[in-house]
Amino acid sequence: MTVATVFGVDIGGSGIKGAPVDLERGALSEERYKVLTPQPASPEAVVAAVREVIGHFDHHGPVGLTFPGVVVGGHTRTAANVNPGWIGLDAQGLFREALDRPATVLNDADAAGLAELRHGAGRGRGGVVLVLTFGTGIGSALFVDGALVPNTELGHLEMRGKDAERRASSAAKDRHELTWPEWAVRVDEYLDLVERLFSPQLIIIGGGVSRKHDKFLPLLRERDAGVVPALLRNDAGIVGAAMAAAAAG
Ligand code: BGC
Repeated sequence: MTVATVFGVDIGGSGIKGAPVDLERGALSEERYKVLTPQPASPEAVVAAVREVIGHFDHHGPVGLTFPGVVVGGHTRTAANVNPGWIGLDAQGLFREALDRPATVLNDADAAGLAELRHGAGRGRGGVVLVLTFGTGIGSALFVDGALVPNTELGHLEMRGKDAERRASSAAKDRHELTWPEWAVRVDEYLDLVERLFSPQLIIIGGGVSRKHDKFLPLLRERDAGVVPALLRNDAGIVGAAMAAAAAG
């Protein structure tokens, strides 16, 4: 019997990467393929790049795609760090047509969160769990007893009169040339804010920077919520996108 694999694509500000996913193991079943995100990242240019990524594999099944903004019913609603051409677009319809296969689109942090809760650092955890991804922006995925509350957008909470992600994302660390200890102070201030508002029992730190968690997690203050690194690292978005596509049927 052949088991249909589902393909996952993670669309980010700098790269678009994808791979077929082994849904049982929650892992890539082949090495992922990555192309640079076209600039400007207009919907047409991104669709062409996604086609290239999928075309690299002999895969014809359904595909799940992440998007770094709010996605409701397959429509992309915001585009804080991507081309404004996405705002108000039926992205899911666009991908279905262009790729000629079932497609499911969801927020990037939500996808990473789904993967971490099922296969990673949040496995088997009930209660309120918050997955935060630190990259170009700050993404958030909020879970209550394993159920996702989609599109929480906690990177845009206000901190010192600004969008929190402008101060505490890993792009902000690079932009302001902050040392790890300097950046950790900002991350702590941000975690204080989310802890005050949501009282999570567990905070999972994901995004590209989670690879280097030993550089900053030990610098963070003790807090009520446990703070742990994501386990699926950079593959979480791809795996979660495929999970969402499989769940959509
Ligand atoms: C966007 C979120 C996204 C996050 C991480 C934010 O700027 O508003 O939707 O999840 O960046 O990419």
